[in-house]
Amino acid sequence: MARLLVTGGAGFIGSNFVHHVIEHTAYEVIVLDKLTYAGNRASLAGLPEERVSFVQGDIADGGLVDDLVTAADAVVHYAAESHNDNSLSDPQPFLNTNIIGTFTLLESVRKHGTRMHHVSTDEVYGDLALDDPARFTEETPYNPSSPYSSTKAGSDLLVRAWVRSFGVAATISNCSNNYGPYQHVEKFIPRQITNVLRGHRPKLYGDGRNVRDWIHADDHSSAVLSILENGRIGETYLIGADGERDNKSVVEAILTLMGLPADAYDHVNDRAGHDMRYAIDYTKLRNELNWHPLYRDFERGLQATIDWYRTNEDWWLPAKAATEALYARAGQ
Ligand code: NAD
Ligand code: DAU
Repeated sequence: MARLLVTGGAGFIGSNFVHHVIEHTAYEVIVLDKLTYAGNRASLAGLPEERVSFVQGDIADGGLVDDLVTAADAVVHYAAESHNDNSLSDPQPFLNTNIIGTFTLLESVRKHGTRMHHVSTDEVYGDLALDDPARFTEETPYNPSSPYSSTKAGSDLLVRAWVRSFGVAATISNCSNNYGPYQHVEKFIPRQITNVLRGHRPKLYGDGRNVRDWIHADDHSSAVLSILENGRIGETYLIGADGERDNKSVVEAILTLMGLPADAYDHVNDRAGHDMRYAIDYTKLRNELNWHPLYRDFERGLQATIDWYRTNEDWWLPAKAATEALYARAGQ
């Protein structure tokens, strides 16, 4: 396996994966990315041109996908419409990319007999109650809540069907909430950090009791690489890092780390259908592949992320005003 085709490699987690692969392996990478509002070429700046090539295009373009799959030894599929709030205001792109795009890739890897890893989310399992001692496992029934998570669930089911019906050599991973460098300012943690950097107050949806299970994007990358190289074909692996936090305490931690009073934030309109809690049990990944997260101290990871946004204003500032204008229209 010498050359990886990484879809969505100019997005948040895809670009973190490309950086990880270049640093820790000898693979070459072809990035296929449409460069939607969420994609950014600058996230791949500084990587060696002899090992990383970039193609701008749509994963739903069968001809283009076929050409690139032919040139690759394996496909790692990150490309998606990824933001729940956008899926509530305009669901159609989520169907095109997450469903039709994944179908298009599957047909191509089926034709060429190419190994594929499909990157998905814990949101396919719906949500847990705050007082539920359970966490998601690979056996948890699918029960997605939003247009985003339902299209991700649909894409997972397509992958499973293509494995069983056509013998496609695919694996799936479902990961919890990522944080780290190169995340779009529409998402929770970068939105609050960049609000503070611009002299604006963080915005908390509803009462902020909702819980997310945070993992650093670099840990997600090492887990995906491990599954790609050593995972069993047809299997699903959950990825997490024991990082459950409620949103209110995350906002308070950001404010404290940035030298402001912990209560200097605003409550804004809640998200429709807002999932209450996600929590991942990654026993299978740990036991089968001996994978462990390296970022175990959330405050330290958060501080490093704050430092990254502080020193990389050129990367995020161009998207900030338009993102906040959309939130303002929704009362958020
Ligand atoms: P992102 O929105 O930051 O990046 C998505 C990338 O895909 C962008 O570069 C975009 O230009 C590209 N893209 C979108 N539509 C495309 C198309 N039709 N053809 C080609 N490229 C296209 O998303 P992210 O947060 O990096 O998420 C990446 C993947 O990881 C998604 O599949 C998402 O479901 C999954 N995931 C994300 C998280 C998280 O916390 N962000 C957690 C678990 C799983
Ligand atoms: O669980 C994995 C999922 O995590 C991924 O599949 C998604 O692609 C990714 O976007 C993320 O989904 P969330 O909806 O959990 O992430 P988001 O950053 O949008 O919001 C995190 C939490 O913070 C959520 O409970 C909503 C809340 N929130 C969000 C924003 C943008 C706020 O309180 N204020 C905000 O301004």
